[in-house]
Amino acid sequence: MGNAVCIGAQWGDEGKGRIVDRLSERADVVVRFHGGNNAGHTVVVDGATTILHIVPSGVLHPGKLCVIGAGCVVDPEVLLQEMEMLATRKLLPDPKRLVIADEAHVILPFHKRIDKAREQQRGAGKLGTTGRGIGPAYEDKAARRGMRMHDIIDRARVPEIIRASAMYANSMLEAVGAEALRGDEIEEMIARTRAHGEKLKPFVDDAGALVADAAAAGKNILFEGAQGALLDLDHGTYPYVTSSNCVAGHASVGVGVGPQLLGRIVGVAKAYATRVGEGPFPTELADPLGTQLRDRGGEYGATTGRPRRCGWLDLVALRYATRLNGITDLALTKLDVLAGFGDLQVCVAYEIEGRRVDRFPHDVAMLARATPVFETFPGFGEVPDRPRSLDDLPAAARSYALTIAERLGVRLSILAAGPGRGQEIVLEDPLA
Ligand code: IMP
Repeated sequence: MGNAVCIGAQWGDEGKGRIVDRLSERADVVVRFHGGNNAGHTVVVDGATTILHIVPSGVLHPGKLCVIGAGCVVDPEVLLQEMEMLATRKLLPDPKRLVIADEAHVILPFHKRIDKAREQQRGAGKLGTTGRGIGPAYEDKAARRGMRMHDIIDRARVPEIIRASAMYANSMLEAVGAEALRGDEIEEMIARTRAHGEKLKPFVDDAGALVADAAAAGKNILFEGAQGALLDLDHGTYPYVTSSNCVAGHASVGVGVGPQLLGRIVGVAKAYATRVGEGPFPTELADPLGTQLRDRGGEYGATTGRPRRCGWLDLVALRYATRLNGITDLALTKLDVLAGFGDLQVCVAYEIEGRRVDRFPHDVAMLARATPVFETFPGFGEVPDRPRSLDDLPAAARSYALTIAERLGVRLSILAAGPGRGQEIVLEDPLA
């Protein structure tokens, strides 16, 4: 069985898009299992950059079946725009290449309005969400009043669901002092949502069954995660997290197949750390070095354009992510960004109230008090543009990457030394 799950091992933005693109070469089916268009997966092919928010990153390889799983929340407007962009490149739309789970939930316009209004009302206590309506859509799902893809394609059900959930949306909007939905806005929303449903109808299917059948027929399945382990709703830095489970175990739930299909677990981590949005970040460099990392690494949100907070690699957090996900293979990205930085610091433990702590604390108040205990690694100079093997790298760069994998007790399988397709060394293809 050549299946794998590819997940973010930090706070998102680890470079999952480009790793999924590379792993897709050997995959037959690529399936997103959670999240929505809060994600921004960047893939650079022959100098052309594509940012995918909801369609799986495997789509840039012709012929792969791309699936948006049941655990996702889908903004029909964004999905249709993305499909249009891909159509101009002759990659989509083709119902045979894109399947949207009939169980996936729909993000409606009022979800975005609530998301933004709530953040505004929180003021300094905001979470720093992407404002894409992700949280409110998952809230409606849990409250059992959400709209699913099989509803949006049914003209009769659309008004019924929108009118019922708009009532709750209005109570929430009023509670945070925002403008409630007017009757005419609701009617317009119904008409637009019906139109979206009609366009998306040919793509909606029983995604779990299709993935299970493909696996039974010996096809390779790649499960594509979004965000990262430390943004996981249960295990991340709550409440500074997203509203879905980002860890590998959720791939089975978010697609609707058994966990025995998951295969290898590829954890993607940057050679340093970044975070976008609020919440504790022990190794953050709020100094010129942090700015230098941001500039060198182009650390600006692929979805919102927000500058990302940058810092040194955190092995306490990575060990936690390794355990949470059961990572078997490490894909280390952006090693080239560290070239020329001089000595590199890696956090190996925290100090909290005078005590050395090796485990990632669940309480964000405690995490906010953590001071990193650093180990110094020798820096390195230029990394070749297209290294073909570890031998092409400066000795200190090679040792940095191998030591991280060793400390995590996982195999170093992929090392990316540039943003473009082909700028990576594949030591072992997890799907081979
Ligand atoms: P939400 O997912 O929009 O509700 O945002 C919740 C938190 O997750 C915020 O800190 C966001 O910045 C963060 N977040 C959501 N999606 C991503 C992502 O794809 N990359 C990095 N951070 C993300």
